[in-house]
Amino acid sequence: MLEKFKKIASQAALKYINNNDIVGIGTGTTIKYFINMLSNFKKKINGFVSTSITSTNELKKYNFNIYNSNEVDIINIYFDSADEINNNMEMIKGGGAALTNEKIISSIADKFICIVDQSKHVNILGKTHPLPIEIIPMAKSYVTKELSKLGGLLKYRKGIITEHGNIILDIYNLEITEPVKLEKYINSIAGVVTVGLFTNRRADIIITGNYDYTVSTIKNIKL
Ligand code: A5P
Repeated sequence: MLEKFKKIASQAALKYINNNDIVGIGTGTTIKYFINMLSNFKKKINGFVSTSITSTNELKKYNFNIYNSNEVDIINIYFDSADEINNNMEMIKGGGAALTNEKIISSIADKFICIVDQSKHVNILGKTHPLPIEIIPMAKSYVTKELSKLGGLLKYRKGIITEHGNIILDIYNLEITEPVKLEKYINSIAGVVTVGLFTNRRADIIITGNYDYTVSTIKNIKL
């Protein structure tokens, strides 16, 4: 049902790619549609920096150049979706467990274009989607104890080991009223690799596929 709204938003996002760009690419179902639309893309893309093996494999189908994040001086633009996004362009990400790579590559990028369907827009983060946290396995007990103090329901994601060999904890039923503060606090706990709260690196442009089949764009920067 939501798939067609992800697709129209992905289509609208293509125009933000410029000739010779190095493009950062996220992970998830929306981004898979976006990558598949690049097969007939007319402009010349220099190459991609990918956030997951899954997205890399999609890109390889079209023989695009793939760079790793340490061999590029710049990433011109980053495309990804989100699990939730609020009016301040802050997001919860990590439903696909690629949050650490997504945070690194989006932070390097000059611009972050977030492609969503309308269901992803929320007033308060954390109420409808859990907040994912990537944790080093030896810190599991300590981090669990610290994060229990936040309230919410803590659940380790079953059968998931990240590309960095870590585990993912999801916190359900949080009402995140101070996202900036919460991102800083969770990042400060020893053993936390990444929290899927994106406030420091928020989106610059949100492209939304609406339920009435229109596409709307919110911009935080001039392009
Ligand atoms: C991946 O780790 C996530 O951050 C995704 O970007 C996010 O979960 C959105 O995924 P969908 O495009 O599948 O909704």
